[in-house]
Amino acid sequence: MIVDGQAPPDRDSGRTRVTRPDAAARRALVGVLARAFRDNPMNVRIHGPNRRRRVRANAAGLRSLVLDQADRLSLRVSTLDSVVVGGFVLVPPQELRLPEPSLRRQFECLWLQGRQAMAAWAEVNAGLPDHRPRTPHWYLAALGVDPAWQGRGVGAALLRTIDELVTAHPAPLCLECDRPESVRFYRAHGFEMRDEGRVHGVPVWCLARGPSGEERGEARAGTRIR
Ligand SMILES: CC(C)(COP(=O)(O)OP(=O)(O)OC[C@H]1O[C@@H](n2cnc3c(N)ncnc32)[C@H](O)[C@@H]1OP(=O)(O)O)[C@@H](O)C(=O)NCCC(=O)NCCS
Repeated sequence: MIVDGQAPPDRDSGRTRVTRPDAAARRALVGVLARAFRDNPMNVRIHGPNRRRRVRANAAGLRSLVLDQADRLSLRVSTLDSVVVGGFVLVPPQELRLPEPSLRRQFECLWLQGRQAMAAWAEVNAGLPDHRPRTPHWYLAALGVDPAWQGRGVGAALLRTIDELVTAHPAPLCLECDRPESVRFYRAHGFEMRDEGRVHGVPVWCLARGPSGEERGEARAGTRIR
């Protein structure tokens, strides 16, 4: 079901547009993000050398977030002629405590990832450096571009939409990543390194943009933001 996206020969990111996804686009976003992250070091470390298996495992983990929590999240997709080529999952300041995945999703993960991988992801989440402020902040859970489209400005365009959302409700914006190329990408867009560490033997970098320390967090709890 989830195979590599077909990139048109020109792959001109100027023709893509960023929109709020409907149900079909959210399903497509699951596939795009599953492919975008498939070669990331933590992914390879946890799910092993088989690329198709990694994509399937990623999709299982992403469904509970992208499909089940859509009402709580700021989701956007980048499309070209209705084909999703990238997107993001941004957690607004008032939704930082998302509910646990449903039993159905947990069974899906057990089936497609396996018990060990599920435990490893839980350890990753618990082992990440504690760099996020205690006060309200935005959290970029995933920003991904279909591998066939990477390096063509799609990520930068998605980041501009993230800027608009954050500017409308100012608060720090935090994220983690495990690829040096991603660190370059975020630094080029004004993010600063807040912490770094190793989780499961994989280097992880924590970046943020916006107020830090004493000035953190102006978004008011209870404000509904999509
Ligand atoms: C990181 C990511 C979202 C950037 O989106 P993108 O559309 O590839 O990036 P853009 O074309 O807008 O910007 C290109 C710049 O980003 C950096 N970059 C990061 N990852 C890259 C990749 N896989 N291919 C090419 N450039 C990449 C480079 O510094 C590049 O600048 P340069 O050409 O001057 O070297 C995308 O590459 C991706 O999905 N990566 C895998 C998933 C991931 O790790 N996401 C980040 C953690 S949430």
